[in-house]
Amino acid sequence: MKAEVIETIREMVGRTQRLRAKGKSIGFVPTMGALHEGHLSLMRRSRAENDVSVISIFVNPTQFAPGEDFEEYPRPIAEDVRKAEEAGVDLIFTTTPEEMYPTGYSTFVEEERVTRPLCGKTRPTFFRGVLTAVLKLCQIVRPHRVYFGEKDFQQCRAVQRMVSDFHLDVEIISCPIVREDDGLALSSRNVYLSASEREEALTIPKSLDLAESLVSEGVRDPAVLVARMTELITEIPSARIDYIETLSADDLSTIERLQGDVLVAVAVWIGKTRLIDNRVLAIG
Ligand code: PAJ
Repeated sequence: MKAEVIETIREMVGRTQRLRAKGKSIGFVPTMGALHEGHLSLMRRSRAENDVSVISIFVNPTQFAPGEDFEEYPRPIAEDVRKAEEAGVDLIFTTTPEEMYPTGYSTFVEEERVTRPLCGKTRPTFFRGVLTAVLKLCQIVRPHRVYFGEKDFQQCRAVQRMVSDFHLDVEIISCPIVREDDGLALSSRNVYLSASEREEALTIPKSLDLAESLVSEGVRDPAVLVARMTELITEIPSARIDYIETLSADDLSTIERLQGDVLVAVAVWIGKTRLIDNRVLAIG
């Protein structure tokens, strides 16, 4: 089925107003494009659970710090449209940085708790940019349900916090991480990896397997888990660890003991590419 590409905010707002007036339920998947199976899994779910399925493709400049990969970020728009169509998407909203952040733009969303650890430490303006974009996109698309991937676990929690704190009338649905057959989490940034880096990146999911087996062997000290994971990842010559942390999966608070639902989160530079991955362990 053909998807319609909508290129302006005005048009998108008009379209969703009409859909809502007709009583249609709207599912929404915000993306930055370079679509892969991870994105497509969210779109299929949105398609299945709503009358109309909308995605956005927008490489959001405010979530990139100076020196990050905003310019290099892949933008294969024709291919993305085809993939989204195959996943049953009805409307594809694309916009430009100029339209989203015109001259004089000065309002941003700052969440002050769940965005502080993990990615918030080394990318201090990242979630401000993400939440601002997600809020704006939700205002434009007016969805009933918005779909996020647990690959970006902290992003899921931050958006859930914003929705609750700002009384937003949307349901946030978080969906499982989609992986390659060998375990590497799908990411638009995987295209940056050379063949040998791609091989080395496998250590990231392997470190999460290690965490899981240590916990099943009875390890309950977060420091022991982190030390063993660090050891494994440090064996990789091209790897530089940004963080390896264990936090409460519920609110990303610090934990003294591995108990309950624990988020094991990893960010590692493989050469010039920063990759993130995580696993939630339900520990009795
Ligand atoms: P992007 O990285 O394009 O991701 C869009 C959505 O796809 C996010 O919810 C992300 O968690 C999900 N996703 C990515 N890889 C996945 C995988 N392997 N398995 C499952 N889901 C996966 O996240 C963003 O864009 C931006 O920050 C955005 C929310 C669009 C705001 O600009």
